[in-house]
Amino acid sequence: SGPDTFSPTGQPTGAPQAKVAQDGAYLTTAQGLRLRDTDHSLKAGPRGPVLLQDHHLREKVMHFDHERIPERVVHARGAGAHGVFRGYGAASNITKAAFLGKDVETPVFVRFSTVIGSRGSADTVRDTRGFATKFYTSEGVFDLVGNNIPVFFIQDAIKFPDVIHAAKWHPDREIPQAQTAHDTFWDFAGLHTEATFHTLWNMSDRGIPRSYRMMEGFGVHTFRLVDAEGATTLVKFHWKPKLGVHSLVWEEAQLLGGVDPDFHRRDLADAIEAGAHPQWELGIQVFPDTPEQTFEGIDLLDSTKIVPEELAPVQRIGLLTLNANPANFFAETEQVAFHVGHLVPGIDVTDDPLLAGRLFSYLDTQITRLAGPNFAQIPINRPHAPVNDMLRDGFHQTAVHRGVAPYRPNSLDGGCPFTAGAAEGAYVEVPLEVSGRKVREAPASYADHFSQARLFWLSMSPVEREHIIAAYTFELGKCYEQAVKERYLGVLANIDSVLCRQVAEGLGLPAPAASQPLADSPPSPALSQIGQTWPAD
Ligand code: HEM
Repeated sequence: SGPDTFSPTGQPTGAPQAKVAQDGAYLTTAQGLRLRDTDHSLKAGPRGPVLLQDHHLREKVMHFDHERIPERVVHARGAGAHGVFRGYGAASNITKAAFLGKDVETPVFVRFSTVIGSRGSADTVRDTRGFATKFYTSEGVFDLVGNNIPVFFIQDAIKFPDVIHAAKWHPDREIPQAQTAHDTFWDFAGLHTEATFHTLWNMSDRGIPRSYRMMEGFGVHTFRLVDAEGATTLVKFHWKPKLGVHSLVWEEAQLLGGVDPDFHRRDLADAIEAGAHPQWELGIQVFPDTPEQTFEGIDLLDSTKIVPEELAPVQRIGLLTLNANPANFFAETEQVAFHVGHLVPGIDVTDDPLLAGRLFSYLDTQITRLAGPNFAQIPINRPHAPVNDMLRDGFHQTAVHRGVAPYRPNSLDGGCPFTAGAAEGAYVEVPLEVSGRKVREAPASYADHFSQARLFWLSMSPVEREHIIAAYTFELGKCYEQAVKERYLGVLANIDSVLCRQVAEGLGLPAPAASQPLADSPPSPALSQIGQTWPAD
């Protein structure tokens, strides 16, 4: 008793299975009524007044009035593309996920985005970039909803509304649109110092990618892979671009922001149209699933920390190729709904408190953005696997469900054929023991906010350091509040004294001393390799 409209299709590129909206040789109303004229309202005489009985005028203007849907509360500006993912089979010893099997090909849709600006903001701003991938696997949809920066601003999702309120435009003037150059952002970052490492990535050249095609992607959180026997492994996901990682320098970005604010989306669409299909390899860093969920002393549930690649090399497990542009931006790029809770057998979540909040937030926001609970039926969101759920009715329900008993078991709709054998291939959460005191507090392991930022800074080349100093100086220089700048110089002092001194000089302020001892970390080869492609095979 499944719905009529959900049949598995297995289309090769992930192109939506939509009915073409323009059909037939002549123009009609939405009801299929043939029109003779759509340029003139129905009037009493050629000069007027317009008649209320003009049903075509009313339908046309009514529909236009409702063309816009709310933009995403974050990541509003984006560009999407279809493609295919081919598994190498290299992860099959640690996960039963079918799409990661050797030479299994899975259609995908990817949406790249900036985070802070509105839908109409410029592409080339200094910001984090989203890198979200929807895999239409044979076992259901898997979404890898990542960013181009491997760490996040906060450790607990309960602060997400706060960090976004701070980074978005000021509520009074609604500026700036899409940059980190304002008081509230630096106020937040100075008072919530777990944001230090992510902010440093933003201030580095990686804050302004040259092209979406030349950007890394990171799942950020640690995920739990499960093999066919139920054994588990912890992993972090990485996307490595075949074209290497390249940035715009600040001056290029400023010019492009004026001359071509669509620079990144144009570059992506043009490249795909020209047959220069961008590619990324999917990789994983692999860690044993121990009760502590740490690796080499690094808390794997803390999304403000990386695991250096020299400690856990990235192993390649598949290839993503983007090979087709969307036919319609609204239908595909705007209506696509990613969610970290879209998982397939073989991939499970961990207890990262940032991930826990996301597991609620995406579905919740999409109820508003896509007007009701049936957005899984929008063509771009439909699984390419059979769907047989007991979800019914609601706004924008397009399926015509049959049967009288949407519950299981039932004795009216021919029993419960989908219960028998369901264990095979079904999603089963890893049965972990859970215990603990109910508290609102962070673990001690979340307390170090500076040592990885320092490692990153020390791994930078001299010219990269110059760019970082210039970026902090420019962005902090835009703040009106002296106290905000002074407090943030205190954060920089905890990263590195040279960095702090030079930014302070640029701002015309005294450089404070570090409030805690600086770790004496040598430049890390692994960190300096972040942003490189793998050596050729
Ligand atoms: C949207 C990544 C943390 C809430 C997005 C998108 C990406 C992303 C890539 C855009 C998806 C698209 O292209 O449609 C991340 C990463 C995070 C993170 C990598 C941290 C590791 C969070 C947290 C929350 C959150 C903690 C909330 C508690 C949202 C919401 C949207 C969004 C509400 C808009 C979704 C929509 O309208 O469809 N995020 N995010 N994110 N994110 Fe996150």
